[in-house]
Amino acid sequence: MPIPESFIRELIDRSDIEDVVGDYVRLDKRSGGNRFGLCPFHGEKTPSFSVNSSRQIYHCFGCGKGGGVISFIMEIENLNYPEAIEFLAKRAGMQVPQEARDPSAKRRERMLALNRSAALFYHEQLSTPAGQAAWDYIARRRLSRATVKNFGLGFAPNTWDSLRKAMHAKGFTDQEMFDAGLLRKGQKDGFYDVFRNRLMFPVVDVRGNVLGFSGRILGEGEPKYMNTPETPVFAKGRNLFALNLAKKTKRPYLILSEGNIDVASLHQAGFDCAVASLGTALTNEQAQLLARFTKQIILIYDNDAAGAKASDRAIEILKKLDLEVKVLRISGAKDPDEYIQQYGAAAFENLLTQAEDQLDYKLRTMQAKYDLSVPEQKVAFVKEAALMLAGLSSAVEREVYARRTAQLCDVRPDVVISDVERTRTALKKRSDKASQRSHSPANAAQPGERDLRYEDPASAVAEEGIITLLYRDPGLAGANRLPSPDEFTSPALAHIFSAMLEKLSLGEEIDANGISGSLTSSEISLFSRLIERPVSDSHRDQALNDYIRKLREEKVNKTQADPLAILAQKRAQQHK
Ligand code: UTP
Ligand code: MN
Repeated sequence: MPIPESFIRELIDRSDIEDVVGDYVRLDKRSGGNRFGLCPFHGEKTPSFSVNSSRQIYHCFGCGKGGGVISFIMEIENLNYPEAIEFLAKRAGMQVPQEARDPSAKRRERMLALNRSAALFYHEQLSTPAGQAAWDYIARRRLSRATVKNFGLGFAPNTWDSLRKAMHAKGFTDQEMFDAGLLRKGQKDGFYDVFRNRLMFPVVDVRGNVLGFSGRILGEGEPKYMNTPETPVFAKGRNLFALNLAKKTKRPYLILSEGNIDVASLHQAGFDCAVASLGTALTNEQAQLLARFTKQIILIYDNDAAGAKASDRAIEILKKLDLEVKVLRISGAKDPDEYIQQYGAAAFENLLTQAEDQLDYKLRTMQAKYDLSVPEQKVAFVKEAALMLAGLSSAVEREVYARRTAQLCDVRPDVVISDVERTRTALKKRSDKASQRSHSPANAAQPGERDLRYEDPASAVAEEGIITLLYRDPGLAGANRLPSPDEFTSPALAHIFSAMLEKLSLGEEIDANGISGSLTSSEISLFSRLIERPVSDSHRDQALNDYIRKLREEKVNKTQADPLAILAQKRAQQHK
């Protein structure tokens, strides 16, 4: 049974968009009816994300995302429609009618409850005699009791069914534990615990939900870590280890490092701003998550080739979000944990002040590839550096780093500066040409949403027009003249249009909130963009007729252009 419309209405009424968005975005400037902030969906330095409280919608002029409060939660929390309803209901202190609750939302909630119980179970095992093995290991890694508590570390006993039995007693089924990645299926005799004889690190999100676990073997052995597989609540690439703790830091930056142990050790030494990327190369989603909590990242990857490569990748991803990125080089130790154990927290604090900004870091690693005593190599280095620096939008930055490059290889600064500027001009010419191409009429009509594309842009213009007009003036729907969604060439627009028709036929209002249930998030974005478009007050009737005629003309043009299609159509009609 679907969630009753009346419930959704009330939920929306009780979830003011400024409040909800305000949990994620600092909205400050008020300009007209809108409040602006930095868009949480793409990186930017100047606010282009707007919230309109009278219409209860948001819209980003930068990336084009937009919609109502429900689609905002779907987008930012990565939830589907019913899950977003559940999320908002919880926030508003409302209860979704039991019979209308979505099975996937229920399942999610159960899984989180199970994970929480399991985390508690693992933690409690530390107080049992068997837990001594874990304490021995914890002591060897010089982690304190306070750290164990802070991270909610635990111990998975060296048995096949301890967790399974304990969770049965709490009312969880084998299937539920299997789905949560806590049990595995055996050859014949059923299920067994996945995590055995491991130090358990719960992975907790910024709201305090236990999403999954990372279990380290006590000592040597393979695999060193076992992680919860992808489940409905856990995706490695979408979460960061210890962000739930680091988000509370008073430091103005977050430290991104590689290992769980490194992070625990950093927090223990007072660097409570450290997070790790759960054993994956940093993903865009993780970077966006970081960007919600800080503007400055210090990368501290392991002191080896793999760490250097991971840093390079992370820089590229973080830079796109306009984050200030610094890189800390560890020397005399293989990772931050070892460094702190060896030299202490004060030495590490000092090391932090020496973190290089990412351009210095890049120049230095670039330079390391060349032997600057060889003239040809010197030339090649300057060329590569100029190419990189030419891409910087700030002229001051270009000059500062051009001078630095000049210093590195002992040539006159103005030579490098002019090289950089020349390269920049050449690049600009090339990209202007490319953008001319992409601004050709056919491309101009394409929707901004990345996963949407109009096969027939000319017809899509008419389809968009019909949607905009109908939204502004639902009265236009009379007189039986609206086209059928089947006549639309764009599936996304057809989808939006039929959702609107459905609302109309029920006598309900069409708005960005009410309509979102049946649409994908890209479609919601597209819809909310279309309804923002200005519409002239006069001649709407005429305009609608024109669009409809255009839509049908386009169709005729198409079929005429393809005689085979006409034949096929005729044949199909004869068979009817
Ligand atoms: P590391 O091998 O650097 O582990 O892997 P670590 O946490 O620093 O532990 P120690 O200090 O060697 O004991 C970095 C991260 O990669 C993931 C884990 O998240 C780990 O923290 N990883 C590593 C795995 O997922 N599986 C593995 O087998 C190894
Ligand atoms: Mn490590």
